[in-house]
Amino acid sequence: MAEYVIEFGKAGRPVEPDGRLDAPAFHRNHQAIWAVLQPFLAGKSGDVIEAGSGTGQHVVDFARHTPEIIWWPSDLNEQHLRSIDAWRAHAGLPNIRPPLRIDLSDAEWCPQMHDGSGPGELLAVFCANVIHIAPWRVAEGLFAGAGRYLRADGRLFLYGPFKRDGKHTAISNAVFDTSLRDRNPEWGVRDIEALQELAASVGLVLIEIAEMPANNLTLVFERSKTA
Ligand SMILES: C[S@@+](CC[C@H](N)C(=O)[O-])C[C@H]1O[C@@H](n2cnc3c(N)ncnc32)[C@H](O)[C@@H]1O
Repeated sequence: MAEYVIEFGKAGRPVEPDGRLDAPAFHRNHQAIWAVLQPFLAGKSGDVIEAGSGTGQHVVDFARHTPEIIWWPSDLNEQHLRSIDAWRAHAGLPNIRPPLRIDLSDAEWCPQMHDGSGPGELLAVFCANVIHIAPWRVAEGLFAGAGRYLRADGRLFLYGPFKRDGKHTAISNAVFDTSLRDRNPEWGVRDIEALQELAASVGLVLIEIAEMPANNLTLVFERSKTA
């Protein structure tokens, strides 16, 4: 079943004195996610943004595998930004930049995308378990930014639970969806077809659906050749 993890530290390891948070789901999903990212990122260099990094654990793990790639974690939540920076300091890797404060509901993302202090054109955008725990405008902003900032051969990797043809892929996801909507009517498990429409509106196309553990998927988008 997809995990609802937003109050990190309540489940999983306690908060570390330096502010590092732990997401239990990270330990279960990072290898499967890396198996999808790796074939695309292997041998490449460039800038990759993680949108909605949460604790910051994914970026640290992926950056270890890819010394030629500069990783730019990001989030909106101040406690998460502190955790990301603490994980960055703890890892001591030269290819992780300080976290950017990005509110994905803003299609511009953040000033650093324009003022020369942030990444250049992006090799990839990675986003895990965000768009169902956020209003639809967050998905809109995520795709708008991906459409604007990805380089010609860049890709957007979107991990989480999704509906296919308007139907849940597992009963556990339907239960999870109901719990999300009870919590906030603007949240909910998103439909792949709706995301494809959003992608098309910004010149992106779905090229791969990778099955992941616990009834999750990774959706991979790239620039449409006809756009
Ligand atoms: C369930 S957590 C997932 C975190 C991490 N990607 C992971 O898989 O462990 C969702 C994250 O999305 C972030 N988030 C929610 N709304 C956002 C927004 N409008 N812009 C950017 N991040 C947002 C939250 O702060 C939180 O860190």
